[in-house]
Amino acid sequence: MSGRLDGKVALITGAAQGQGEAEARLFAAEGAHVVLGDVNDEVGGKLAAEIGGTWIHLDVTSEDDWAAAESVVAGLGGLDALVSNAGIARPPLPIANTPLDAYRQVIDVNQIGTFLALRSGIRAMTAGGRPGSIVLISSVNGIQGAAGIASYVSSKFAIRGLAKVAALEVGPSGIRVNSVHPGPIDTPMIQPAEPGGWDMRPALAQMMPLRRIGQPADVAELVCWLASDASSFCTGSEFVIDGGYLAGPSHGVHTEYADS
Ligand SMILES: NC(=O)c1ccc[n+]([C@@H]2O[C@H](COP(=O)([O-])OP(=O)(O)OC[C@H]3O[C@@H](n4cnc5c(N)ncnc54)[C@H](O)[C@@H]3O)[C@@H](O)[C@H]2O)c1
Repeated sequence: MSGRLDGKVALITGAAQGQGEAEARLFAAEGAHVVLGDVNDEVGGKLAAEIGGTWIHLDVTSEDDWAAAESVVAGLGGLDALVSNAGIARPPLPIANTPLDAYRQVIDVNQIGTFLALRSGIRAMTAGGRPGSIVLISSVNGIQGAAGIASYVSSKFAIRGLAKVAALEVGPSGIRVNSVHPGPIDTPMIQPAEPGGWDMRPALAQMMPLRRIGQPADVAELVCWLASDASSFCTGSEFVIDGGYLAGPSHGVHTEYADS
């Protein structure tokens, strides 16, 4: 049976758990050879072995790690798809109370890490002569603000901008760059920090028009399509996957489905 990513080499950052893990599993099932990068060597290494991928220790903020990643994909014959997915969030704090170090930490991983991913992805695709698809994971918080998470919102708006600049620069070479904007997704990022800890997921689900938060597999489907040739006319665009979250406030007005 043919897969949607047959014969492609794909690099996914933050691949050890959550959305990155779901993307790695789906990409492998669709025929890609997946290079999984993360700072969590133990969990990520086991996953790579399970799906027949290549594990690399990749801290997205490290230029040395990115140089090593470029060598690994060159050894695999080139790169066809890059998913820049690694990201962190911090507990909410008003701007007035936010220490500079805390702000910088999020910008380093989410924004600088995405810039380095994009740079290496473009270099690898150009060097390998295989123009492919680059997917940058932003957030609904890259389109709309949210109080208390200035560093996260700033970094995710920056990712949206980076995708547009890159799409303009590399479009003539056939490389595509798009950003993906998930709403709340059920991963460790929004799960209780410890067993029995505060769980924000039920309240989030209530805010959603679809009355549920997303699953990692929901996002993986969209990202797989963007990585595949089926999306070959898409570049420089924003792909929202949010259960209707950004559609606007519902003011409590809704219609119950009745089949009579
Ligand atoms: N979960 C959500 O509600 C949600 C919503 C919108 C966007 N996002 C974004 O989706 C992406 C994936 O998040 P997730 O929900 O799977 O979260 P997650 O916390 O489950 O996974 C994030 C992964 O990134 C890795 N990581 C952290 N710092 C890294 C670094 N410096 N270098 C390499 N890897 C690093 C972690 O080890 C982890 O495996 C992130 O960019 C996040 O901001 C998440």
